[in-house]
Amino acid sequence: MSIAFDLRAGDPARAATPLLVVALPAEPAFPRALAALDARYDGALSRAIRRKDFQGGKDEALLLFAPGAGPERVLLVGTGTAEAVKGLTRAAALAGRKANALGVGRLTFWAADLAGAALEGVVAGLALGAWEFKELHTPAPAAKRRKPLTAATVCVANVRAARPALDAGVAVAEGQRLARRLAMLPGNICTPEYLARTARDIAKRHRLTVKVFGRREMARMRMGSFLAVAQATTQDPKLIVLEYKGGRRGEAPVALVGKGLCFDSGGISIKPAPSMELMKFDMSGAAGVLGAMEAIARMRLRINVVALIGSTTNMLGGEAMKPGDVVRASNGKTIEIQNTDAEGRLVLADVLTYAQRYKPQACVDAATLTGACVIALGNTTVGVLGNDQGVIDEVLAAGRRGGEVGWQLPMFEEYKDLIRSDVADMRNIGGRGAGTITAALFLAEFAEGMPWVHLDVAGTAYSETDLVVMPKGPTGTPVRTFVEFVRGRAR
Ligand code: BES
Ligand code: MN
Ligand code: ZN
Repeated sequence: MSIAFDLRAGDPARAATPLLVVALPAEPAFPRALAALDARYDGALSRAIRRKDFQGGKDEALLLFAPGAGPERVLLVGTGTAEAVKGLTRAAALAGRKANALGVGRLTFWAADLAGAALEGVVAGLALGAWEFKELHTPAPAAKRRKPLTAATVCVANVRAARPALDAGVAVAEGQRLARRLAMLPGNICTPEYLARTARDIAKRHRLTVKVFGRREMARMRMGSFLAVAQATTQDPKLIVLEYKGGRRGEAPVALVGKGLCFDSGGISIKPAPSMELMKFDMSGAAGVLGAMEAIARMRLRINVVALIGSTTNMLGGEAMKPGDVVRASNGKTIEIQNTDAEGRLVLADVLTYAQRYKPQACVDAATLTGACVIALGNTTVGVLGNDQGVIDEVLAAGRRGGEVGWQLPMFEEYKDLIRSDVADMRNIGGRGAGTITAALFLAEFAEGMPWVHLDVAGTAYSETDLVVMPKGPTGTPVRTFVEFVRGRAR
């Protein structure tokens, strides 16, 4: 369920709320504006700071109860020594998560004179911190059920001035919540058809244009690479196209491309059993694209954007593609399939080729493409590669603004030898080394002539550990990077 936000001016000391959240930096001085509140607490708030029970560190939280009227509880959360927006976003997320654990249902966040990106971060942080995935659990008996956070009031100095930042924060959070939910849903529920339906829902809600192509249409477009991956699945593969027209008529769009493997078994080159269930997340790039479109449409950004998703499952069977098979992609290039588990690039080959029809001003794809990216950069950094240094720098900056940091890997000519084939124009794997780079070099064969950047989110889209401000599971990456990039190019 999403959270209803509202804005209010005035002294938080008088707010009738079950939980008042106050975010403070490292080694805080007690804010003078909260003197009345402190008085209601018999000076306990300022004392907690003076006595260093609360020091404002990263992920630090202190909960206090008050007698009488006004806020029933105050939660102090630390923003630490991080840069302001980042620190506030994280502190708000921690508060959102704590509110859920307490079961208070609603809260008030004291935002004082925060504005712009800082306020947006607070709103997005609260909504994302409170995100959880409960829909496949049988609900606890009513008496034991704790209320999830469904309403938040943000206390600001100037309600009118704060409105745009609040709306932007909600837009970003709703996009990310959608992406997380889709990536969490298992392969038997979140199918290619389900992603198509989700795209149709977004289109309907915000009046976008949507086109969905199935196996038959893709065969007509000679997408032999994509269809090879879909050969052994009984589910109809989908090429989903979602057009948002917020810019001038005829203006070249930004193209956002997502890998949408609703399950990746590896195919004939089958994956080992341990952790194979994680491969339901192999549509995280597609989830990121859909989440970004939801956010972009909510923000009514003045720019044209086309979203392109290639969705299927990589399965085994008598019909399955085999190592050694040679297929022809829709741009005419031939590919020797040496490993059926390198399927993401086969799907993206035809989707990137399709993106070329739009002559996009820039094309950014996101894919959980290589395990090698997890080895190279771990779970906190997005792999970034591309054929246009200007756009690469723009995407890196967008990622930093959005709190999804990326790092560029090289695309030196020398690596291209690694994907050479004896029987076709290229093969779909490289050698043992540089797996993320050879995968990107493969994609580059289909992005020729358009400014293109590739995000490898294999390590960052999903967390296998609890991250304090979010539960184990999908992170929502790369929604923020997409949104910030598109925002940076909007009028
Ligand atoms: N979806 C996987 C990439 C992946 C692996 C993401 C592990 C997260 C964790 C992709 O389709 C894949 O299987 N890639 C292979 C490529 C290899 C066969 C060249 C890989 O990385 O092992
Ligand atoms: Mn694979
Ligand atoms: Zn895959």
